[in-house]
Amino acid sequence: MRRRSFLSLLGGTALAWPKALNAISRDLQAGGGPQDEAFWARVREQFLIPPDRIYLNNGTLGPSPGVVVEAVAEHIRRVASTFPPGVDWEDLKGSLGSFLGADPEGLVFPRNTTEAMSFVAQGLELDPGKEVLTSDHEHIGGLCPWQLVCSRKGLPLRTFSLPVPAGSSEELFDSIVGAISDKTQVLSLSHVTFTTGTRLPVEKVARVCRDRGIVLVVDGAHPPGMLELDLASWDPEFYASSPHKWLLAPQGSGLLYLGEEWRTRLWPTLASGGWDDPGLGAQRLNHLGTFDESRMAGLLAAVEFLNAVGMDRVEARVRFLRKRLEEGLRGMPGVEVVSPADEDLATGMVSFALDGVDSLALQRHLARSAKVRTRVISEYDYGWMRLSTHIYNLPGEVDRGLELLDDVRRNGLS
Ligand SMILES: Cc1ncc(COP(=O)(O)O)c(C=O)c1O
Repeated sequence: MRRRSFLSLLGGTALAWPKALNAISRDLQAGGGPQDEAFWARVREQFLIPPDRIYLNNGTLGPSPGVVVEAVAEHIRRVASTFPPGVDWEDLKGSLGSFLGADPEGLVFPRNTTEAMSFVAQGLELDPGKEVLTSDHEHIGGLCPWQLVCSRKGLPLRTFSLPVPAGSSEELFDSIVGAISDKTQVLSLSHVTFTTGTRLPVEKVARVCRDRGIVLVVDGAHPPGMLELDLASWDPEFYASSPHKWLLAPQGSGLLYLGEEWRTRLWPTLASGGWDDPGLGAQRLNHLGTFDESRMAGLLAAVEFLNAVGMDRVEARVRFLRKRLEEGLRGMPGVEVVSPADEDLATGMVSFALDGVDSLALQRHLARSAKVRTRVISEYDYGWMRLSTHIYNLPGEVDRGLELLDDVRRNGLS
């Protein structure tokens, strides 16, 4: 799918960041294969990460490239000095819509996935006698909004288990669809689980839900900016995300996509002018009072930055680095990888346990001894270590991480 760039449009404005991004875009035109190290070294130069730090926790928060930081700062400076018109919402919706392959009119901009999922949970009419169904791999940001509404309304929130490690898309599909009952009104699922980085077959599940009148709510915190997406190809009813993760946008940039029928049906959680005007569609939910528009400037710059790199190149590089890491881990005795081996299910995050080593102690050791940032999945008592690979990571960093782990495996934590 061709991504529409809004850079040419923005280049004609008084803003400085689109001009800087145009130069980056020109510099990144040629090459960019997953092992084109000269290209990826130029990409890394766009980030502020010091060379002695190894950041393997993009799954929690993505470090913005310099041009995104500049877009935010420029917006704040301009507002403080000359009160210019704000960010153009049509540009923002158009740019994001094109990036996600989604109808721009369905886009809402809350602060994060947690808020987006809360908008959905609070805004649906849940029927007495029905249930909400979810998996045992949901993040609190996608789970607690349902806990809250279910406990308030006295409705069951039922959880089913996903296979670990998942062997195939069919196995995942069967475990999800097999858990649906005739009481299920809402199915809430991650697109990519935060626990093991497993890609769930939400597109296929969406078809089943549609046929059975079940509302599918997808927590898509991770895929935008990590995987090439074309939401229109499966037309989700609700898709929530956090562009401050893989899309490398500033903190507090959230996203909620509403399928067409819900744009007039979902109750807004926050009400301001136009909340009850069906003519505004999903845009009713964008009337949130005064808020920090600088993050929207940053979000737009982040989308255009990834467009300049090219999402096909991004996904291939993310996968190349993860595969290198994963193969290294699988080759180490005593390491149990819980992420899927199948490339259709694998993403930019790999989780594992090291026999006899507590993951939290390992995390502290890596941070203190070598400035390596990781994430431990303590939730649900899983206790796995999770590593993420994004475009600013270099193969040498992956190898260094593996070396450090191998040292702990052989010699224990010192
Ligand atoms: C799958 C998933 N959902 C939701 C969230 C919550 O994201 P946020 O804090 O941006 O709301 C996270 C955060 O890591 C996540 O991994």
